[in-house]
Amino acid sequence: MTADIIDGKAFAANLRAKVAAMVPAFREKAGRAPGLAVVLVGEDPASQVYVRNKHKTTVEAGMESFEHRLPADTTQDALTALVEQLNADPAVDGILVQLPLPKQIDESAVLATIDPDKDVDGFHVVNVGRLSTGMHGYVPCTPLGCVMLLKDRLGDLSGKDAVVIGRSNIVGKPMAQLLLAENCTVTVAHSRTAHLPEVVRRADIVVAAVGRPEMVKADWIKPGATVIDVGINRVPGAEPGKTKLVGDVDFAEAVEVAGAITPVPGGVGPMTIAVLLRNTLVAAHRLAD
Ligand code: GUN
Repeated sequence: MTADIIDGKAFAANLRAKVAAMVPAFREKAGRAPGLAVVLVGEDPASQVYVRNKHKTTVEAGMESFEHRLPADTTQDALTALVEQLNADPAVDGILVQLPLPKQIDESAVLATIDPDKDVDGFHVVNVGRLSTGMHGYVPCTPLGCVMLLKDRLGDLSGKDAVVIGRSNIVGKPMAQLLLAENCTVTVAHSRTAHLPEVVRRADIVVAAVGRPEMVKADWIKPGATVIDVGINRVPGAEPGKTKLVGDVDFAEAVEVAGAITPVPGGVGPMTIAVLLRNTLVAAHRLAD
């Protein structure tokens, strides 16, 4: 039996529409639109695409988008000064500094400068701490989107065995915290995990976020498991000179074993921006109250 395909693209479109439908009530209350500031340093091609998409979807949702593009040789001081200016700007509810940053910039120091109450990415240590202690804060967009897809598919996640492959600050670690908060039994696996296929095979829920193209094979997956593929890897395509996107899961194989699976593209990817808009609307209300 082949797995059900989890349609993240449709789920994300629905979430964006719900957020957009709630924007007029905020305008009524605050006399302005919710505002999201996005900072891009340098010319990383993938980041440029993300930032362009963020701008487009923010405007489509009826929100204000403030885009700041800085040259690749921007100094730490200049970037810090911009973030401080955005912290103080009452028209800005959410601040996102696109990662990765150029080598000369201390990423943690920049993230620590963002006002935690405008940190719609959930990367500030205060929000990391809030998440791990069960307090209200901001949760990183990609893992929160994964949990939304999982709950939509499975309902209550209590008691499920979940394996998260990957331990990044952006996905793996917050994903584990969120699943723990949903009463899953969580294992965080990574590049040094012994017997990785066996560990993954125990899971009712597999979240793959390692950045290794098609690493997770069919025989790693328990029949019927729900598989969430966070990977976005560009690899050579069938035709010479062409590339294609693949996830961290070998989709063609895994779809024959899993109960449900997210495709790449069209699975987790579109959820990130939709959740970012949701976080921005939440921030706008909290700041306006
Ligand atoms: N780079 C890759 N993913 C993200 C994200 O979710 N937020 C930011 N700020 N940068 C990223």
